Amino acid sequence: MTKKVVHESSSMHVTGKAQYIDDMLLPENALTGYVVTSQIAHGRLMGFNLDEAKNTPGVHAVLCYRDIPGTNQMGAIAHDETTLVEHTIQFIGQALFLIAAVDEETAKLAASKITTEIEELEPVVTIEQAMEKGLQLNPPVVMQRGDCESALAQSQQVIEATITSGAQEHWYLETQVAVAQPLELNDMKVYSSTQHPTETQALIAEALYIGRHQVEVETRRLGGAFGGKETQANMVAIWASLLAQATQRTVKIRLFRDDDQQMTGKRHPFLTKFKVGFTKEGKITAYRVSFNANAGYSTDLSMAILARARTHAENAYFIPDIYIESTAWRTNLPSNTAFRGFGGPQGIHAIEEAIERIAQFLGKDAAEIRYLNFYQKEINNTTPYGELIENNHLETIWNKITKTSDYTKRKSQVDAFNQTSQFVKRGISLTPVKFGISFNTPFLNQAGALVNIYTDGSVVVHHGGIEMGQGLYTKMAQVVSEELGVPFDKIRVVATSTQNIPNTSATAASSGTDLNGMAVKNATDQLKDRISKFLATYWTNESKHTINQEDILFENNDVLVANQPELQLSFTETVNLLYQNRINLSARGFYSTPNLYFDKATQQGRPFHYFVFGMAVSEVELDVLTGKHRILQTDILHDTGLSINENLDIGQIEGAFIQGLGWCTTEEIKWDNKGRMLNHSPDTYKIPGIRDIPEIFRVSLLDNAPNPNTIKQSKAVGEPPFIHAFSVFFAIKYAVAAVKNHKVYPELNIPATHEKIVMAIEKLKQE
Ligand code: MTE
Ligand code: HPA
Ligand code: MOS
Repeated sequence: MTKKVVHESSSMHVTGKAQYIDDMLLPENALTGYVVTSQIAHGRLMGFNLDEAKNTPGVHAVLCYRDIPGTNQMGAIAHDETTLVEHTIQFIGQALFLIAAVDEETAKLAASKITTEIEELEPVVTIEQAMEKGLQLNPPVVMQRGDCESALAQSQQVIEATITSGAQEHWYLETQVAVAQPLELNDMKVYSSTQHPTETQALIAEALYIGRHQVEVETRRLGGAFGGKETQANMVAIWASLLAQATQRTVKIRLFRDDDQQMTGKRHPFLTKFKVGFTKEGKITAYRVSFNANAGYSTDLSMAILARARTHAENAYFIPDIYIESTAWRTNLPSNTAFRGFGGPQGIHAIEEAIERIAQFLGKDAAEIRYLNFYQKEINNTTPYGELIENNHLETIWNKITKTSDYTKRKSQVDAFNQTSQFVKRGISLTPVKFGISFNTPFLNQAGALVNIYTDGSVVVHHGGIEMGQGLYTKMAQVVSEELGVPFDKIRVVATSTQNIPNTSATAASSGTDLNGMAVKNATDQLKDRISKFLATYWTNESKHTINQEDILFENNDVLVANQPELQLSFTETVNLLYQNRINLSARGFYSTPNLYFDKATQQGRPFHYFVFGMAVSEVELDVLTGKHRILQTDILHDTGLSINENLDIGQIEGAFIQGLGWCTTEEIKWDNKGRMLNHSPDTYKIPGIRDIPEIFRVSLLDNAPNPNTIKQSKAVGEPPFIHAFSVFFAIKYAVAAVKNHKVYPELNIPATHEKIVMAIEKLKQE
């Protein structure tokens, strides 16, 4: 199989021909949907008057919560999110009313005519405020092994710290969007930019008070999602559907960028406290960590996100006695949600901080402390939640990357440079990742597919996954191409639809290819079985020799008999033959990941099918007067098993690293004490640009690392490489600490903006 097939839409992406929902040609009488939102973060809606708005010419519907035929509820997991506010207002940007009008101006004019009576209440914005008020979303959850308290008491050294990491805006290029089209019999077809069509379908059905069989959600591609459309695409789709049902016209809602940024949830900010015990060599003996997440106003995915933070609290390190506690706190912000890494980055941040502090305390290189604590192969290879780590590649990756990056030599060059340079300092850091693959909610690990072969030898593939730029459709076509031996361009992976593939899970947890790939292969296996069974009989009759089913091969658009070159038909001839003999050329596939279980009460089990490993080395140069820095070089060695598509995988690794870089360095969201977001547009919220990438950027895939029991022995790739950005964060911190010759550990959290770096340096100077 060629591993370098280009993304099936790449030429359409760059020529602007790829159709996104906003590009759809709508019927002439289609309406624009508009959401009227709260401008205060906390309060009570005491009364309102919609009459004038309704009487505005060009307005076709103005809806409040009383107009919802079904349940006024859109919480994906916990039922704690009203579709439209009834009484309590919980954040700025929360939906109060919906308007359908001939265009946006008319809708806005109508919105300005709505009068409301609102009683304002004091908002809670920060984790600290929520903790002070005891606003827990749920009781804390504890995962532990051994006896952490006594292990800490017996440790030769203990370091204690409180650290924070910030929110992150997803910054998908396509904002939240949906088109809802009313059909006969009160049915609804919805084009939604969602990572989770089945959940979108379910919530629309509940809101409209109709069956799920009456709602079709279709999604061809998203203009990026990054977790931001795992649950939070639902609301726009529900609102559009309510307006479409009320007006019996097609309704589109697409959020304006600034509104999207204000209304939707982000990566959870964390406030984390830890205590780490260690020996004088730097071996970790005990670790106690307490994660506190700012969940925003509702539950959303917070519980699963904290679960992933817990299962990534030790990253790549074996820690004998460990106590991990996590709590989600309720605030008056939009509900924070899935974002690439799903709590993993926040969990890993703390243990990597602990390692850095141990290294600084002992006057050793942090990479050496990391190596000393890595999970091993024969012993010390079980996670705090009881999962055995198999096929551990940490040692292999370490051996390779320390060599290819010339880590040790460059580290001493960095130190030498810093000795003679006062205002420019350099830093270098090597960081690892171990990331668990599977939804950490076991039942979600399932997928379906449908593969149809047509008698001209072409193939259409349906599966439950969502294409959001990551290349899932390309990989699915590659799987079919390799299995059936049909050329890539004779295969179409078509828009994902809840009518074709029901009861799907979100495309998330990096497992889109793992799950849907296996479901697709399950379908092609059935087709190959039917074809080869038929051909074995056929050729036995024709050639008067016994031909076995196992001898039938699918290659180069032909179907062959092994070692019998004269017994050969083209794929098209073959499928015609089957058709003439009335054999089904269509098959449904299904897959569920084997051997996954997790006991919530004991927090023990086997939540992950396998682990992904990787390491990064980054070197930075920092201007200590301005806090400005450049990345001189980044080397990444990352494990993708036997990659299905090396170009796509390298693209994912580069993209995840850069997205992580944004979270670690420039992306900072500021809220004032009224819960108002102060930077809700690209001119004040700084995502990485082309000039922020490393000057030398070398990404390699670990070779010879087949992953057993997965599609084509590959590994998931989407989220784990986000963690490689810590190599930059800790390289910056190293450069900052060089100002005081590493005598004092700098106070610098995530994001390390220029401003925060300068403040950290000023603080160091005063020590
Ligand atoms: N890549 C692109 N281009 N766009 C995206 O929105 N989302 C990421 C990752 N890579 C994303 C992306 C996230 S959060 C996940 S979970 C995975 O893709 C989901 O897709 P997969 O499971 O097919 O890898
Ligand atoms: N990742 C993404 N979404 C999820 C997960 C996960 O691990 N678990 C439940 N929903
Ligand atoms: Mo990814 S955060 O699991 O959508």
